[in-house]
Amino acid sequence: MDVLDLLKGHRSIRTFKSDAIDEQLFENIILAGQASASSSFIQACTVIRITDANKRKALRALAGDQAYIEEAPEFLVFCADLNRSFQCCRRHLSTPVEGLTEQFIIATVDTAIVAQSTAIAAESLGLGICYIGAIRNDPFKTAELLELPDHTYPVFGMCLGYPDEAPEVKPRLPLNVFLKTDVYGDKNEESEISAYDEAMLNYYKNRTKNQKQQSWSEQMAGILSKENRPFMKKFLTSRGFIKR
Ligand SMILES: Cc1cc2nc3c(=O)[nH]c(=O)nc-3n(C[C@H](O)[C@H](O)[C@H](O)COP(=O)(O)O)c2cc1C
Repeated sequence: MDVLDLLKGHRSIRTFKSDAIDEQLFENIILAGQASASSSFIQACTVIRITDANKRKALRALAGDQAYIEEAPEFLVFCADLNRSFQCCRRHLSTPVEGLTEQFIIATVDTAIVAQSTAIAAESLGLGICYIGAIRNDPFKTAELLELPDHTYPVFGMCLGYPDEAPEVKPRLPLNVFLKTDVYGDKNEESEISAYDEAMLNYYKNRTKNQKQQSWSEQMAGILSKENRPFMKKFLTSRGFIKR
């Protein structure tokens, strides 16, 4: 498939066939993800493949009981990882400067880029994926379960497998809202958001599964007026991130 069509055809998959992913194919997907660009070549990401059924069960439970975490043939946890970098400092008898917010950004961005390349590689081979941010519902427990060392944290999980559903592609914001020229420009975008709300209402009403009656702006208002995972700063600090 054409790469642009593949990217524009993305949709999250939450129902998988039980077929296993061939080991060679799996390794190739991981290698493709790993080939991503990396800030200062720190390679600040570690991927943990969850094969232990009990760990899958525990992750499912702490991530809002999302069944596909347990049902997907593969479940990966993408960790932002500076543990290795700090080992390099010690190896060369230099003292690492720890806890900088900039390091947190570097590690998180590296991890997201690796994950998205992994997702595209998988989708290009006919697999489906679903990111799972909900493993941060109880990040302390996730870190403990995966025996994560200091200076690492679980950014998100990802289900992978052959799709057993064909969800419609979700419309994105209009291009004139998403892509600006030279400056941000109109900060309110009232009419564009109204038009997009209409498109999303229509999408939610007519999609084949999980129909609902909600506009995008309503959905955002609901999400962003709640204190979402307020423990994250404490968690990240406890792992050695964002201390200054
Ligand atoms: C970082 C991240 C975390 C996500 N976490 C979850 C999750 O925990 N559970 C889930 O069902 N979907 C999750 N999603 C999927 C989004 O809901 C989905 O990408 C979004 O609604 C757009 O739909 P689409 O991927 O089908 O285009 C996550 C996506 C991202 C990027």
